[in-house]
Amino acid sequence: MLSSQISERVSYIGVNDRRTPRFEAMWPLPYGVSYNSYLVDGGQKVAIIDGVEVSRGLQQIDEIRARLGDRQPDYLIINHMEPDHSGAIRLLRSAFPNLQIVGNAQTLKMVEGYYGVADNTLAVKDGDTLTLGDGVTLQFYLTPMVHWPETMMTYLVEEETMFTGDAFGCFGALNGAVLDREMDYSRYMPEMVRYYSNIVGKYGMFVQRALKKLEGVKLSTLCTTHGPVWQENVEGVITLYDKLSRYEPLDNGVTILYGSMYGNMEQLAESAAEGLASAGVRDITMLNAATAELSDILASVFRHKGLVVAAPTYSDNLFPPVGNALRALSLRGMKEREVVVLGTCTWAERASGIMSALIEESGMKVFDKPITIKQAPTREDSEGCRSLMKLYAETLK
Ligand SMILES: Cc1cc2nc3c(=O)[nH]c(=O)nc-3n(C[C@H](O)[C@H](O)[C@H](O)COP(=O)(O)O)c2cc1C
Ligand SMILES: [Fe+2]
Ligand SMILES: [Fe+2]
Repeated sequence: MLSSQISERVSYIGVNDRRTPRFEAMWPLPYGVSYNSYLVDGGQKVAIIDGVEVSRGLQQIDEIRARLGDRQPDYLIINHMEPDHSGAIRLLRSAFPNLQIVGNAQTLKMVEGYYGVADNTLAVKDGDTLTLGDGVTLQFYLTPMVHWPETMMTYLVEEETMFTGDAFGCFGALNGAVLDREMDYSRYMPEMVRYYSNIVGKYGMFVQRALKKLEGVKLSTLCTTHGPVWQENVEGVITLYDKLSRYEPLDNGVTILYGSMYGNMEQLAESAAEGLASAGVRDITMLNAATAELSDILASVFRHKGLVVAAPTYSDNLFPPVGNALRALSLRGMKEREVVVLGTCTWAERASGIMSALIEESGMKVFDKPITIKQAPTREDSEGCRSLMKLYAETLK
């Protein structure tokens, strides 16, 4: 088990999960994921902040026993009730019978609903404090919808350390080190974009509210529930979250999201890529909606300023994989993007109208007019597409 002393009082007692292939049964975990958990020893009282997923409960209990010896933890503070962080509650309770569960009113209701645990709880409100000993004060900041309604953050006042729950978290297990300054954390940054776009993406407005709330708070350390503990790159991850939650693109690249059954739409998508490249766009990500992971599609659209969607008509409707991706973007309220629409058919074109509607519904705009073709693209079709991309590339500068 990873163990790291974050400060004299705070230690890491989280776990890596390299066996679960998909987070929430959906999102790929090629590098695993960590469920971060922390022990805060205040001298008089000991708190566990955030828990682990149920399958790692016993492993965590062993670590807590090894660290505390004869002492018992007094509090389990639940910043976020989602079972990746609370699944082991009943195991913790059976190992440490006096463990008091600390959460806000919504959290405690969920704890009862999920685990039937309702005794020995302590309800906290926004701004409340809990003292663990001399000069060891925890303060609670309610930050609803980052990522569930009950989510809150816990601040260790004297150390300027915020336990942030899912905020500033990312996919990727921890490879030996826990603190960002003890590793090359650059590999986690794309995984933060993927995590944000997949998991938190719908709640940009709430992330903005949480960031406002933290504005006056000194933040030296961010102890998230997934991925590295941030100390060196605190400003970097806050800036990244600020951008992502305002739907601000991170670069001037373009995602070309396309569907094609027999290769004709794909040919037009290739022309779009050529047009963009010859207009000087360097960062172009082409994703086949039927084979790419939705996870990567979302991350790419959140990252790039440009988006081109191209799809055939299918049973008088939109080719389903592209529809699925556009609906996933709309669910996340994706905005601040102008989108090029390319549609095709064999006898009656329906795809471009449906794509345009989904784009507008999300809060994005359709760029210029959609290009619609029939059957195989002609030379003129490809030329028209390249010309449109030249105009589009101008808007990305
Ligand atoms: C199952 C299936 C359903 C289709 N439904 C329609 C349709 O309702 N209307 C239409 O005009 N074309 C329809 N098409 C034709 C596709 O739109 C056709 O594949 C496209 O025009 C050519 O692009 P592609 O080579 O990229 O697949 C259908 C094709 C398939 C395989
Ligand atoms: Fe969560
Ligand atoms: Fe989580």
